[in-house]
Amino acid sequence: MSASYPVVDIHTHMYPPSYIKLLSSRTTVPYIYQPTEADNSPDSDPRLIILASDDDPSRPKASRGRPVDSTYSSFDQKRSFMKRHGISCSVISLANPWLDFLDPESALETAQGINDDLETACAKNNQSSDHGSLKLYAFGCLPLSAPAKDIVSEIKRLKTLKHVKGVIMGTTGLGKGLDDPDLDEVYSALASTSTLVFLHPHYGLPDSAFGGPEVVARSGHVLPLALGFPLETTIAVARMYLSGVFDRHPKLQFLLAHSGGTIPFLAGRIESCVAHEREFVANGGHRQGPQRSIWDVLHTNIYLDAVIYGQPGLRAALEAAGSVDRIIFGTDHPFFPPLGNEHESRWLSVESNKGAIDGTFPHDEEAKKQILGGNAVRVLGLDI
Ligand code: URA
Ligand code: ZN
Repeated sequence: MSASYPVVDIHTHMYPPSYIKLLSSRTTVPYIYQPTEADNSPDSDPRLIILASDDDPSRPKASRGRPVDSTYSSFDQKRSFMKRHGISCSVISLANPWLDFLDPESALETAQGINDDLETACAKNNQSSDHGSLKLYAFGCLPLSAPAKDIVSEIKRLKTLKHVKGVIMGTTGLGKGLDDPDLDEVYSALASTSTLVFLHPHYGLPDSAFGGPEVVARSGHVLPLALGFPLETTIAVARMYLSGVFDRHPKLQFLLAHSGGTIPFLAGRIESCVAHEREFVANGGHRQGPQRSIWDVLHTNIYLDAVIYGQPGLRAALEAAGSVDRIIFGTDHPFFPPLGNEHESRWLSVESNKGAIDGTFPHDEEAKKQILGGNAVRVLGLDI
């Protein structure tokens, strides 16, 4: 990819060294396992065991989960990946499962430490002449297991960090999902500070949805990542919409990972089911139901990334978003690396996302320019 305009990657993760240390200190999911000689493992890379299905007790620890090499925590490797793919700016975010698992007492301090690490790394990168024009910004993380007042205070503090351009979070909220009324205080703080929320899945669906753990295990990470992740996002956003979050907080701004899961494909069906639901007040029933149309929410509160790996998905995202202006390029680096020793080559995962954009807009350079960089610069206020 060599474009004559800025290419910005807004879906690109890191486990900064402080987070790797935190995961390495744990022995239950999520954790990092460092193989020892006793494991007799052919591969000495530590293992990242973050999904419940990763921690299969019938397998030796040294082969559970996935290898986690330095691409996950090294800023140099992030920069060399950017150069290889013609990316001029990355908005890095902590990868899943963020701080969801922390006890309430340590959550705020840990979030502050990680957010400060991200801010410092981005500032150092952007001030250094060693990295040419490569720029780094970040999405901060929130101490979601802490009391709401701590979450709100971190949302406000993040606005003072120059390189933090929003927050990343998962779908559990305070533990009961994103339609939890107790989140209203947090949503108010996000809306009043104009903080963009990058919503990203982690938990997928229970193994039973796929036919049980044996069925899941037969295809490794394929079912949880290809279907579980997008459906988790779909359910989370549908619940927010149905519970009136966007009615009560019309200024909320969400960026949905993986082009919104299946929300673009299912939005019409959701709208139709709402219009036919007798229990809703608008249809003569006794429950409030959503007051705004899902299309209105998609066109005013939601941005979709372009991490969908194919033209049909990208076209659905584009239709649902209502405009090229709401679709933003991403890579999901360092996940989905080439499987052999071809870390130096271009990544299939990136090329297929880029190919979907090229194939959808073969003759529209302006649309490509917006999706690949212009939208991110405008929405996040990036200085590049
Ligand atoms: N992409 C992510 O962001 N996280 C995963 O765990 C896998 C793919
Ligand atoms: Zn991701």
